[in-house]
Amino acid sequence: MKVLALNGSPRAERSSTYHILKPFLKGMQSAGAETEVIHIQKLKLKSCLGCYTCWLKTPGVCVHKDSMSEVIEKFNKSDLIIFGTPLYVFSMSGIMKTFLDRLIPRLNPELIPHPKIENLTTHPSRYDLPEKMFLISPCGFPEFEHFDSLVATFKQFARMANMEYLGEILRPSAEALSNYGMQGLFKSYYGLVQRAGEQLVLKGGVEEDLRNQLRQNLFPGSKEDFYEMANAYWKMKTEDEKKH
Ligand SMILES: Cc1cc2nc3c(=O)[nH]c(=O)nc-3n(C[C@H](O)[C@H](O)[C@H](O)COP(=O)(O)O)c2cc1C
Repeated sequence: MKVLALNGSPRAERSSTYHILKPFLKGMQSAGAETEVIHIQKLKLKSCLGCYTCWLKTPGVCVHKDSMSEVIEKFNKSDLIIFGTPLYVFSMSGIMKTFLDRLIPRLNPELIPHPKIENLTTHPSRYDLPEKMFLISPCGFPEFEHFDSLVATFKQFARMANMEYLGEILRPSAEALSNYGMQGLFKSYYGLVQRAGEQLVLKGGVEEDLRNQLRQNLFPGSKEDFYEMANAYWKMKTEDEKKH
């Protein structure tokens, strides 16, 4: 199985997103998958101009000449795409959205009924996208409900792109995951993430028991204790910044 992971955090390797992606891909590799990561930030993709040149003048080909065409080739040769994005304003990061916008050249302009879903309109596709997808996302706030619109967006993307949505790993209170000094605290969580990666390859999904364990609170104590810790962390970072 060929797996392509897209890291949509502008912090690339330093991100919480990548700290979750890494053990997940390790688990997938140990189950026999061939994996690759692309840090979208490094592609320096230009935004879609909405000019429809890719529909009208040069069908299927974007007016921008950047690395997107190479990435699309890799994307299309994969069996499974892992979309990794931090939660930004209740949704995906800007660079992940740019990536999805830049997939527009694959569509034809006509409106047609969706081939598999009743009463839903779509565009014909010039080629099929990979069959399956999975979502990984960290966010700053401590509740899972902040992810609702992100998950809905990716589920709708999967429906419209005829991709099977295999599930998600969501991680609230995740800012500390990108902190070098705090990695010891998350060892057992990363172990669970790795098992989830293995299960995804071997069983086609993450089992309910493991999904529940992956939703555990990583910080002992009450929400107020978490506020106190997070606020102290930001205060310390602010003071550090002033010194430099
Ligand atoms: C522009 C911006 C918007 C954000 N919006 C949200 C949000 O809506 N809800 C939330 O819980 N956290 C939000 N955050 C916090 C990030 O999701 C959080 O810091 C996350 O751990 C960053 O992951 P990364 O290191 O992979 O980039 C936002 C951060 C930024 C910079």
